[in-house]
Amino acid sequence: MQTLAIIGSQWGDEGKGKITDLLSQKADIVVRYQGGNNAGHTIWVDGKKIVLHLVPSGILHPHCLSIVGHGVVLEPEAFMKEVINVRNHIDISKKNLMISENTAVITSWHKQIDAAREGQGAVKIGTTGKGIGPAYEDKIGRKGVRVRDLLNKDQLHSRLKQTAEEKIFLLEKKYGIECLSIDAETERLFQLGQELKEFVGDAFGVLQDALVRGKKVLYEGAQGALLDVDYGTYPYVTSSSTTLAGIHTGAGTLKGQVNEVLGITKAYTTRVGEGPFPTELFDEIGAYIQKTGGEVGATTGRIRRCGWLDLPLLRYSIQCSSLTSIALTKLDILSGMDVLKVCEAYECDGKIFKTARPGMDLSRVKPIYRDLKPFKDDFISDQLTPNLQAYIDLIEKELGIPVGIAAFGPDRKQIKFLKSYF
Ligand code: IMP
Repeated sequence: MQTLAIIGSQWGDEGKGKITDLLSQKADIVVRYQGGNNAGHTIWVDGKKIVLHLVPSGILHPHCLSIVGHGVVLEPEAFMKEVINVRNHIDISKKNLMISENTAVITSWHKQIDAAREGQGAVKIGTTGKGIGPAYEDKIGRKGVRVRDLLNKDQLHSRLKQTAEEKIFLLEKKYGIECLSIDAETERLFQLGQELKEFVGDAFGVLQDALVRGKKVLYEGAQGALLDVDYGTYPYVTSSSTTLAGIHTGAGTLKGQVNEVLGITKAYTTRVGEGPFPTELFDEIGAYIQKTGGEVGATTGRIRRCGWLDLPLLRYSIQCSSLTSIALTKLDILSGMDVLKVCEAYECDGKIFKTARPGMDLSRVKPIYRDLKPFKDDFISDQLTPNLQAYIDLIEKELGIPVGIAAFGPDRKQIKFLKSYF
């Protein structure tokens, strides 16, 4: 295997960071290809917690080149803060970190528009408030600023002048919010450009060259399939392609191929922000999972909504990203519970659905649950207890793909490989 994609199969927060970190040991390159600092990838190393938002999770392995691909939206100030923070753990230079010169930039206006819409707009999405949606709107609307523009003050100023007036008008006249002038934003972004310029380059070319030379590449997804702008629970989604397709547009692959696609899947389901959630639990079990699982957003600190594992959604995710195996994370949270359920199908208008469909109104479906024997495992011995093994076997049988990784806690040492990668 030369290339492996790591994709969230639910609504994000499945534990992609820790699996990417672990698999990076064997990879030459790790590429982030979509999203921005709305993501929060938490990695625990020797009891120390490191949260990455924009810097790829391969960064903790010095041999590995971490690339921020052109499909990402980059907030330069947040990026530089993160670099300074990660430098407390590892040396960072252009040898192990690179940003594509074509990556779109999140400006101060994007963040303000995001916050204003959430506060005053007609539809509240429950965004992370990082300016992600407005930045992607500008990119697709051909009004964006790219990282390369930050390196030349005149070019940056003229680009902002061509594109910023309507944003300033919107902020000041519609929302009544004071914002930076074009001159002030030019100055701010140019200064940030000077700080990050050592990392800027032809990431696409570097990646293509590495693929030809047989280098091992890991594509690190952010968010999850159900937050995908095309496949997800629209409009309660993020503004990028979080599924397999995002890799092709956001990073570039050889002949459009990714060898294997690993779907990171929490052993239960969580969601932050608004939007339908069929298996959401509003009782003490949901509260227990939230508390025991520490289900609080790594980026926003919001409490995550919790529910049982949802197989119809996972079957859909498998289709959206051609998943070839899954990693089942946070099994330790379910260990010792008195009840254990999975949703095996939905009922809607008298019909049974085994797989979620894109046009389905998930707020109307009724989950059909299967009760399983609860498991209690200390996860120390190599042997899984029979009930946990039965839980994993059932998931494999129902989804038709193997569980390649089982994670029993946040640390690298608590992740068990049931299949080999790379
Ligand atoms: P945005 O990406 O900030 O525009 O937020 C859109 C939706 O995606 C909101 O429901 C967010 O809570 C959700 N979201 C964005 N990033 C993440 C993530 O990394 N984990 C979980 N949910 C996320």
